[in-house]
Amino acid sequence: MIDLRSQKLTHIETPAYYYDLEVLRNTLEELKKQNTEGYILQYALKANNDKRVLGMIQSYGHGADCVSGGEIERALETGFQPSMISFAGVGKSDAEIRYALNQRIGYIHIESLQEIEVLSELATKEGIVQNVLLRINPQIDAHTHAHITTGLAENKFGIALSDISTAVQSIQNAASLNLVGIHFHIGSQIEEMEIFETLCVKSFEIAAEIEKLGYKLSIINIGGGLGVDYIEPHTNTIPDFASYFEALKKNSVLKGGMQIHFEFGRAIVAQCGVLLSRALFTKEAGEKDIVVVDAGMTELMRPALYGAEHYIENISSTLPAKKYTIVGPICESTDTFREDYILPETKRGDLIAIYSAGAYGQTMSSEYNLRPKACTYYSDQL
Ligand code: LLP
Repeated sequence: MIDLRSQKLTHIETPAYYYDLEVLRNTLEELKKQNTEGYILQYALKANNDKRVLGMIQSYGHGADCVSGGEIERALETGFQPSMISFAGVGKSDAEIRYALNQRIGYIHIESLQEIEVLSELATKEGIVQNVLLRINPQIDAHTHAHITTGLAENKFGIALSDISTAVQSIQNAASLNLVGIHFHIGSQIEEMEIFETLCVKSFEIAAEIEKLGYKLSIINIGGGLGVDYIEPHTNTIPDFASYFEALKKNSVLKGGMQIHFEFGRAIVAQCGVLLSRALFTKEAGEKDIVVVDAGMTELMRPALYGAEHYIENISSTLPAKKYTIVGPICESTDTFREDYILPETKRGDLIAIYSAGAYGQTMSSEYNLRPKACTYYSDQL
């Protein structure tokens, strides 16, 4: 749990990302406690690519899931082993593919029939035999927000079930590609463990089908997606890893050195990050009491983009509670963090903490309205 009231925050510049490295460490320790022999974390850098955060994740020996040349570069810079890096994504540029090949990264995930041709040609030119995984769209509904669902037939991700055998044959014909596994990712912020069970069953069925085509797979990558508690981040700071692994283990048998890779992003980093802001102004709009804070959708886009609700505290005030609408300074009406939200009476200058901002906060930030980049503080530096 993050206790900001005990921190000396009066001097900090806002808006700022605050990372509690103890919370991150506790999360990684909890993950380590699970008995996960044969299960490998490929941490998804898209959730958070802060160098100190990555350094700590890497120090636990985990791999990295990257979706751009920039993320591969960041992973290498922060010490991830090339052989533990995977490169996924529905639209890799030729330059990014060449970079990934030449860095000798562990795996490239292929998402379309055409990509097999392109990758094979580029790898041949570079004289490299590349291990690849085939990303398959399993057509499973993740029961999550429509904008973060990826495993339905109409989604742009992965190869259709009906194209698997064509894809496998085409990889088989490509001397520069070596098919080592299959990859799935059906969505993010998934809260029902049954969905992971269904995915696990389906992925082993698909693996068995591919093995019938004469291929021995050594990796099933089940993607990321484990959800976190945005409503009560103080009570549920660490995600329910135990239930997740139980769901997978119940439905998988790892024979002959086979590995399951998983690509948590949010579950590792969401709760160690807080977006700190200050109240700039309070005003009335119709019936509503508004607090305008100095952080906005430029620092945390999730509320504007998905209607996401984050837990918010005024850590300066102990006055009686009032109902507020909390908004950012950006010239967009969707730049609203919460509506009708209870906070202690808020005054200009109060510190307002927006929790669970460690995942998809800083990485999705923008300079819209030509705003400067927010600062970053770490719990061990204050
Ligand atoms: N693997 C793949 C192939 C992915 O596309 C993603 C996330 C992950 C792993 C990591 O998923 P996680 O464990 O973090 O759920 N910006 C959105 C989430 C987008 C997720 C995109 N892909 C949000 O703020 O909710």
